Amino acid sequence: MIAKRQTPIPISNLTFTGNEERYVLDAVHSTWVSSLGKYISQFERSFAQFIGTSHAVSVNNGTCALLLALKALDIGPGDEVIVPSFTFAATVNAILHAGAEPVLVDCLPNHWNLNPVDVEKAVSSSTKAIIPVHLYGHPCDMPAILEIAKKHKLFVIEDAAEAHNAECMGKKTGSVGTIGCFSFYGNKVMTSGEGGMCVTNDALLDERIRKLRDHGMNKDKRYWHDEIGYNFRMTNLNAAVGLAQLEQIEQFLDRRAYLAGIYDFRFKNLTGVKPPLQSPFGKKINWMYCLFLDEFSSVSRDELLAGLKEYNIDARPTFYPLHLMTPYVNLKRISSLINAEFFGMSGINLPLYPSLKEEDITYIADVVRDLLTIKF
Ligand SMILES: Cc1ncc(COP(=O)(O)O)c(C=O)c1O
Repeated sequence: MIAKRQTPIPISNLTFTGNEERYVLDAVHSTWVSSLGKYISQFERSFAQFIGTSHAVSVNNGTCALLLALKALDIGPGDEVIVPSFTFAATVNAILHAGAEPVLVDCLPNHWNLNPVDVEKAVSSSTKAIIPVHLYGHPCDMPAILEIAKKHKLFVIEDAAEAHNAECMGKKTGSVGTIGCFSFYGNKVMTSGEGGMCVTNDALLDERIRKLRDHGMNKDKRYWHDEIGYNFRMTNLNAAVGLAQLEQIEQFLDRRAYLAGIYDFRFKNLTGVKPPLQSPFGKKINWMYCLFLDEFSSVSRDELLAGLKEYNIDARPTFYPLHLMTPYVNLKRISSLINAEFFGMSGINLPLYPSLKEEDITYIADVVRDLLTIKF
């Protein structure tokens, strides 16, 4: 019998051990607390350099980054965008908010990222873009996706919201497509509070995204609006936090990789769960730790989650495949989404963050092992 911890272990937690406080106070003292101020431009410059693109535009969150990317590429009513069903809802919501039609595709049989064979099948005369999602920090099969995009003259918007510093084709995820979109929500590997970034190597797209972010205003003529835009700007306060976090991202990711390795070791050869998924298309980063039950599991996912909760461990299910939920059931699809259903219905995410201790992981892994041997 495992002794229950009294202090809950959250699924994610922040590490503010760098310049966060100093930069935020500096921004407050400067009185530049809205969307002008030195931290915005510093954060954008540093993030572009980090990802390896010539441009980075900060925005108020990752969902708006995706919407701005679509709008900047003039994607809207009458256009189709190919997107995986196994993703966080924001990816598809952005397409719907742009007025375009999402076309859902399946995952690979042995990996949760989208299947290029399905992507090719989904291309129609209305297709304008593909949104590969580097889910849970694992890069997609970008060579195959870029080839399809080139063949059919499609844009590629990378949803790298969960994949800061992952790599594919020798580059950082987010930098190989037309536009890359990131999120800095508080549970990501680095945060700005709320926040997001569009990155691109195209100067004209950078300019268009900046204009749309700021009410469609002409950059040389104040209060002259060339088109209908939005207010999707990041604040200087958020950028101050983001810059301080970016300065520490390598340490954060090293610690996450080390801790994920401990989970892998503790779950080795455990009946009822699949071995940890490799990252076949490039260097992954460790965002949430994912564990998938297999057909030999003696417990259901819900039973496992409930059991973990009893032990004060905050775990959560992997994303439900979008096509199973009311707002998305009627979205266009060209094939079965059976793999999305496996990954979306049999996985759990376990706590992973730099301040987690080795003994916390031992405790969590012991509880999982124990629960998997209990017949409910
Ligand atoms: C895959 C994916 N896309 C998009 C988003 C949207 O980012 P945000 O929450 O910053 O709007 C998220 C974030 O949570 C995400 O995980």
